Amino acid sequence: MISRRALLAGAAAAGAVGFAPSALGRVPASVDTLPKSAPVRRLALSAAEMEMPLLGPGKPVTKGFCAYNGTPFLTLRAPVGTRLMVDFENRLPDLTTVHWHGVRVPYLSDGVSPLTQAPIPAGSTFTYNVPLPDPGFYFFHPHCDETGQVGRGLVGLLVVDDPAEAKLGFDAEHFIVVKDWRLDEKDGRWLEMFTDEGASTAGTFGTVRATNGSIVPPRVEAPAYGDVRLRVIVADSTRTIDFGCETEDAAIIAIDGQALTPLPLSKLPNEIWRMGPAMRIDVHVRMPGPGEEVKVYDYRTAEPYLLTTLVGVDKGRKKTAFRPKALPPAKVPLPDVKRASHIDYLVQTAAGPIVSGDPLPPDDPLAKALIASACVGSKTFWAINRNSWGAGADLRLPPPLATLKDGASYVVSITNVTKHVHPMHLHGHVFRVLSSSKKKDIPPYLADTVMTEPNETVEIAFRAASGDWVFHCHILEHMDSGLMGWIRVV
Ligand code: C2O
Ligand code: CU
Repeated sequence: MISRRALLAGAAAAGAVGFAPSALGRVPASVDTLPKSAPVRRLALSAAEMEMPLLGPGKPVTKGFCAYNGTPFLTLRAPVGTRLMVDFENRLPDLTTVHWHGVRVPYLSDGVSPLTQAPIPAGSTFTYNVPLPDPGFYFFHPHCDETGQVGRGLVGLLVVDDPAEAKLGFDAEHFIVVKDWRLDEKDGRWLEMFTDEGASTAGTFGTVRATNGSIVPPRVEAPAYGDVRLRVIVADSTRTIDFGCETEDAAIIAIDGQALTPLPLSKLPNEIWRMGPAMRIDVHVRMPGPGEEVKVYDYRTAEPYLLTTLVGVDKGRKKTAFRPKALPPAKVPLPDVKRASHIDYLVQTAAGPIVSGDPLPPDDPLAKALIASACVGSKTFWAINRNSWGAGADLRLPPPLATLKDGASYVVSITNVTKHVHPMHLHGHVFRVLSSSKKKDIPPYLADTVMTEPNETVEIAFRAASGDWVFHCHILEHMDSGLMGWIRVV
């Protein structure tokens, strides 16, 4: 396992390098996304096991639930422009890391072993430098044994507030965390999270559905005729939902934390937004009158599943016409699509470990890196461009899928040639979803995770940022059984 110090030394030696085909072995600079003068907030974060009554009152409690700071779905929030210095302590009995999903962090704080750090042993600490350059709704989770640790609850939410949003005048904010539990319903024990059957197909589903940890869908009061900002996340390892509301007065105002021109749900095909694991949306919902309800559903299942009920309570507001509130436009680095280079990635099945592409030169700090067996699954079922992430008996780090140039623009066509959906996530970047071969009427939007359906080609574009970044499916058993690759940006 390479040490972080070795990486840092390599990064300093490489400095700000330009692109050359021979640059494959150069270690990228770990570039910070906030100035040194940014205000710092230091915080202690730990991961540990606890007991939780996941099956509800009067039922057996579940041991070995995992949470940050002892709080299920711990929510961190800070104003945009803040730097979080996170002193993390691993109180789990297993290896772990923390990944800041969707946040443009310097890559040495990205939490991916063995690319950016060694996994953190039980009882050890690691400090993450987490600049928050962009407002929005993010989350954090382990990047080692995600299937097992996220499966047992280890997910935190991160809201980066933009003070300019205060004048939009939302009356209430409510979170909807979609996450099932995979439990034996008789004794409350965890069932196996990684199964060969699930990992090689759509993923292994939970046995009980839950919203915000509760198997009883929450009922939430909100001011009648008021404006509610829903923050919705699919934190499940496997499940994809079709998000919808039983009201005309609802619009998506951000995707994966990034503002977009409000997209009324009623204008979308089937009036739903499909969300795979890791995807988030912010939705502006206008409440009906006192005592009236807005029901929020997952329409993907045969019988729509009630996620949450919003109930109007009289706070003296009067009925007015619904106009979706537009958030201030996102300020992430945007790609220059006209001058972009093109890359094609095929998301494929694999009948065992496969490797293709140029190996790293022997003097690269990652050339001999091994993936910790405790961090991945036992078999390989998937690959990207005939290249699978290590699993099972073959724990070598595969060569990078590509070496890109810092600051240059790229258009990536992702084609899913499998029979299952794959929500694809690129670390360290916010990309523009340009087009889909199947969904024609969706205007381009920004995201960090994009759904690919069977036989669909999705085009994304981004401006490459220096670092070693993974690109993977966020169905956690898929990523733990090969569906992950990495790009190097120098
Ligand atoms: Cu939430 Cu590597 O991802
Ligand atoms: Cu997948």
